[in-house]
Amino acid sequence: MLPEGGLALDRSGHDVVIIGSGIAGLRAAIEAARVGEGKADVAVVTKLQAMRSHSVSAEGGTAAVLYPELGDSLESHVFDTVKGSDYLGDQDAIQRLVEMMPAEIYQLEHWGMPWSRREDGRIAQRWFGGYSYPRATFAEDKVGFHEMQTLYDTCTKYSNITFYQEWFATSLVVEQGEFRGLTALEMKTGELLSISAKAGIIATGGAGRLYSFATYGHSSTPDGIAMGYRAGVPLKDMEFVQFHPSGLIPSGILITEGARADGGVLLDKDGARFMGKYAPEKLELASRDVVSRAIITEIEAGRGLKDEKSGYDYVQLDLTGIGAEKVKERLAGIREIAMKFSGIDPVKVPLPVRPVCHYMMGGLDVDIDGATNVKGLWAAGEAACVSINGANRLGANSTAECLVWGRITGAEAARYAARRGVSPVPAEAARAEEKRVFDGIFHGRGGTNPYDVRDSVQRAMDKGAFVYRTEDGIAEALRTVRALRKTDFLHCDDRSRRYNTNLTNVLEVEAMLMAAEAILASALARRESRGAHARRDYPRRDDVGWLRHSLAVFSAEETEGGHVNLAYSPVKITKYQPAERHY
Ligand code: FUM
Repeated sequence: MLPEGGLALDRSGHDVVIIGSGIAGLRAAIEAARVGEGKADVAVVTKLQAMRSHSVSAEGGTAAVLYPELGDSLESHVFDTVKGSDYLGDQDAIQRLVEMMPAEIYQLEHWGMPWSRREDGRIAQRWFGGYSYPRATFAEDKVGFHEMQTLYDTCTKYSNITFYQEWFATSLVVEQGEFRGLTALEMKTGELLSISAKAGIIATGGAGRLYSFATYGHSSTPDGIAMGYRAGVPLKDMEFVQFHPSGLIPSGILITEGARADGGVLLDKDGARFMGKYAPEKLELASRDVVSRAIITEIEAGRGLKDEKSGYDYVQLDLTGIGAEKVKERLAGIREIAMKFSGIDPVKVPLPVRPVCHYMMGGLDVDIDGATNVKGLWAAGEAACVSINGANRLGANSTAECLVWGRITGAEAARYAARRGVSPVPAEAARAEEKRVFDGIFHGRGGTNPYDVRDSVQRAMDKGAFVYRTEDGIAEALRTVRALRKTDFLHCDDRSRRYNTNLTNVLEVEAMLMAAEAILASALARRESRGAHARRDYPRRDDVGWLRHSLAVFSAEETEGGHVNLAYSPVKITKYQPAERHY
């Protein structure tokens, strides 16, 4: 147990604390550390070692307009993103993303990012789905890895950034609507500590491990999303979950859209190219929602193949026409992945792929500056919903969003902190958390295996909230998730204090159940099809009834709507009126 009187230690005195160490978190840390002549004391709390954050696995590109003189334009990037979002993206936020991105590409370059090069030596860009110009800036197919290296390396140059690596944040501390800090488990010692800070930024990424077949690392659970939600921040547009067309069978590891951009084609079981039926102009480079639905339609029509071992149906992604040299130069990462994880060399044989959970368009509701409704608390990256992605994100806009809103929130939080005095985490808040985590879970007892609960949540989401959805399917998944929440899974069998991953896994499962309920409740309510939310029972987009953001507001008490109260907010339309999408 912890010492009498509360937590062992309060790491007080930080100006800005950032939870999460992916691209958004690290970019926020750098910006917070350098505004105001570098006076802010910045902390980064991460449940992983920073370089293991899921951002490292981003592959294909980061979108930015670099070559207006060759035909690209800011306006075109804005329009492609609005159209890709199925008109649910906020157009003022999209404009801001697009205007700020070119400088971010050059900023990374100055910090040491090894962007791939064109023949003329300038930074290279490739096509990506849904764009009208090849504006995905890339470093082979290891964009996330190199961006993370560059940002982490840059962070280490700032003596005013402190890393708390392998610290699992358990709760935010909010008093009278103001952020005070957080509580976290130091994994190495098993101690629960509080960290006081004047301002906080949640940058914990998405929640893709809600599904069993996912491109995400196993650490991608909605801990930060649930922390903010419990603290009173609504979850916006959670029903919009992106399924990337090409998850490698059987692991689900991402095969980048860059492979299709560089000449890869999708084939049915007989070797026939099918995308012409669904997107006559853009073919394999239509937006992801369109391509994923096409693959599922082909499979359901009996034109897919089956992997007997995993049981997954799939189609073929044929890269053999690209040529070995180009694959080795631009797609070396996915070639290695395919050879190691599926035993296939894509230079010689088509890859088995199927739609895979890849991204959450929804997240913590924030304004255009990344601010939440809790004073002193911001959110950035995939954990947040600004919203630039609306109902469907375009590839290469995610790392872009992490950079732009990492920068914006880092600066905003540091400026806010400069005007505030320190208010330490109140002892009673810390003690309540100690009771919840140690008395409730660590010393808890119960007959339900939390790992079975995790598997059941994934199965329910796989079945009820996949590429195509129906009222009955969503409702059944929601019933399952609500029933699982009521089981006695909140306990821990591992009695050791050091590196007790059993304890953190249980906390992750609790967060998964909260996020799953918000996704399913929002999906059930939205009776239309828009972007990635394709309802078989409501196949059309309904702008009269549903051109609005959904907001899931957490209710600690269970009501008729479980723990979710639904509200809605308007979409910001500045220039582009909704129109039918064609690719
Ligand atoms: O296909 C990809 O490389 C994914 C990129 C993205 O999601 O932005």
